[in-house]
Amino acid sequence: MNARAYGTNPVAFYRGVSGSGDGYRTVAPFDLFGQNVLINDPDLVAEVLAGPSGQRFGKTGLRFFAVIRRMLGSGLFGIDGDQHQRQRRLLYPVLRGDALRPAAGAMSRAAERLREEWTVPPYRTVDVAEAATRTSLELLAEALVGPPLAASVVELGHLFTHAEPTLLRVLKAPVVFPDWLPTPGNRRLGHATAALRNRAADLLRLDEPAPDTVLGRLLARESDRTRILDELVTLVVAGHQSTAAAITFTLYLLAKHPSEARRIAEEATSALNGRAATIDDLPALPRTAMVVAESMRLFPPVWIITRRTIGTQRLGGHSLKPGTTLHICPHTLHRNPAHWPEPDRFMPERFDGTGHRHRFAYAPFGGGPHKCIGNDFALLATAIVIATVAPAVHLHPPAQEVTVSARSFTVPEGGLQLRLAPAPR
Ligand code: HEM
Repeated sequence: MNARAYGTNPVAFYRGVSGSGDGYRTVAPFDLFGQNVLINDPDLVAEVLAGPSGQRFGKTGLRFFAVIRRMLGSGLFGIDGDQHQRQRRLLYPVLRGDALRPAAGAMSRAAERLREEWTVPPYRTVDVAEAATRTSLELLAEALVGPPLAASVVELGHLFTHAEPTLLRVLKAPVVFPDWLPTPGNRRLGHATAALRNRAADLLRLDEPAPDTVLGRLLARESDRTRILDELVTLVVAGHQSTAAAITFTLYLLAKHPSEARRIAEEATSALNGRAATIDDLPALPRTAMVVAESMRLFPPVWIITRRTIGTQRLGGHSLKPGTTLHICPHTLHRNPAHWPEPDRFMPERFDGTGHRHRFAYAPFGGGPHKCIGNDFALLATAIVIATVAPAVHLHPPAQEVTVSARSFTVPEGGLQLRLAPAPR
């Protein structure tokens, strides 16, 4: 019963398990191929994600990470322990602070292209989710390798999109067969993964990215090409649909809330005066940041974070058997009524910096040693795209509410068709 509901729409399943209002559950055990517990209590989320690393809860033994490693190899996302710490030290400096300046240039250029595309008459209906995915992939590709080589990384993104249905099918199957067994699913996933990884290997063999790009910096820090290949594939997979989801749902919420859209447009107009946003404009765009934060509360791009108990563990008064899977679903965590009054309401003011909030009541980027390493990159890209586009076009309110669908990341079911119009003057 649970397997079918979970397979159909896991986010709806987690919302059902959590309940709402007075019936909202902060710890909710459920059956799904073994013992599982959904956690919506920020204290316990902190314990699982940010407690002493690797000793009580880990990624090891979880089928999700075992399958994902077939594609990403030893890329940062699928690994744990010492190996993870070593790889994290390699990646961290290239995705933070001033190292992001050249990437921010790529973001501004991609945002400008999107604005131009949307402001060429005749104004029409567009699939915002498709446009956001394309823009996110373009900006990530240019940030990773620079404009001359970006097309190769865009191709990697397309190869992942091609592999994704097979990947999701294998992940959702009741039994995950070992990768050496030639089942139809394994074979299809094997082919799709080989196409992606071979293309990434070609890129590394044949091309020299500029030294100030993400890949250029990684190559300067690490000589092991397999490690670099694993991280390149990881960054493409982890980085573009996630950012696209943040942009898509922010634009959806702005379309639904025209007065907020006007406010964002006014802020951007006075900060930018018609040009594309840059990294230096961020301090002048506080409302944009609040809207993006609230959008990622209501529609977090990552819909699930899992860990597994190592040995028997106590958590919030519960005794958990070895091998219990802990689920942290940001969609339900972000609707904990004890931390978020009127949890379903869009209220950017929640992020105006005045109130006190539990650090783990809000976890779109996870937390602890595995916290998203692309956090700054993603927020920067989303703000630049929103601030560049918002003053230039008006998005008509959507004909209906979106249904959230859980693929590798959160997407609006069936895309997001919105009608464009010139921005009011
Ligand atoms: C809005 C966009 C994004 C969201 C919401 C997001 C969310 C997350 C979350 C929740 C995790 C933690 C997973 C876990 O603990 O199991 C994570 C990890 C990760 N993310 Fe992101 N992410 C985004 C964008 C990006 C971007 C742009 C990149 C790279 C350019 C990236 C690369 C990674 C990597 C490599 C990890 C693994 C980190 C580790 O285990 O140390 N993400 N992300």
